[in-house]
Amino acid sequence: MKKAIVTYETFHGSAKKVAQTIADKINCKCINVDTPFEAEDLREINTVILVFNFRGPYTAQLTKLYLSRVKDQLKTKNVILVGEGLFSEKEFPIVAQEIYDNNPSKTFNKFFVNGQLRVETLFPEERALLDKFSQLTGMEIKDMGQLDLNKAEQVALEIEKLLESDEFNEVVEEAPKSDTKWVCSVCGYVHEGENPPEKCPLCGVPSSKFRKVD
Ligand SMILES: Cc1cc2nc3c(=O)[nH]c(=O)nc-3n(C[C@H](O)[C@H](O)[C@H](O)COP(=O)(O)O)c2cc1C
Repeated sequence: MKKAIVTYETFHGSAKKVAQTIADKINCKCINVDTPFEAEDLREINTVILVFNFRGPYTAQLTKLYLSRVKDQLKTKNVILVGEGLFSEKEFPIVAQEIYDNNPSKTFNKFFVNGQLRVETLFPEERALLDKFSQLTGMEIKDMGQLDLNKAEQVALEIEKLLESDEFNEVVEEAPKSDTKWVCSVCGYVHEGENPPEKCPLCGVPSSKFRKVD
């Protein structure tokens, strides 16, 4: 059993299929990013693989929330991001870099898989968002793309190689855990550490909006 875990963020199942393809290949647990997950659960794991889909302004929202909860542990872990979307292959490195800058990890790798849009499966709020986008850009909303599970298989192979590499298996000491907690006065996000974060990973307000929990 590899010391990795795959978590995914999905709305219509494509990112889940990509995640499951990877988890099957490397024989590890695959959970929805919504699943309550304690930072402690990461103790036996050296690699976290996050699969998320592109959703305009809401891209990787739950993934970022998940990462903010395990941020302190990530410094000693290997993190792999797998983005899945229609036309964001070029944009993906920018999103990935932003995620890495907010959650530095021991190693960091990223892969992109082509996804699909099927109009009849859209939720009303998604349809409204896409209609707005269509009005702004003139883009027609129609069935687009085809989920590329061959690409997901290739990514799984690449990840398998990484998991076996010396770099991934080099042990890094865990930082001692801090008992100090800070709560964001705007959205309630709780941060553990000697100091508050520079900005809230959830709502983006500066550190001055955090108060220490007694
Ligand atoms: C509301 C909405 C917004 C989307 N925004 C983007 C986007 O910004 N870039 C992109 O490449 N794909 C975008 N897509 C396409 C999705 O990434 C694609 O449909 C993906 O396969 C959905 O994954 P899922 O089945 O796991 O939900 C969007 C789809 C929806 C429904």
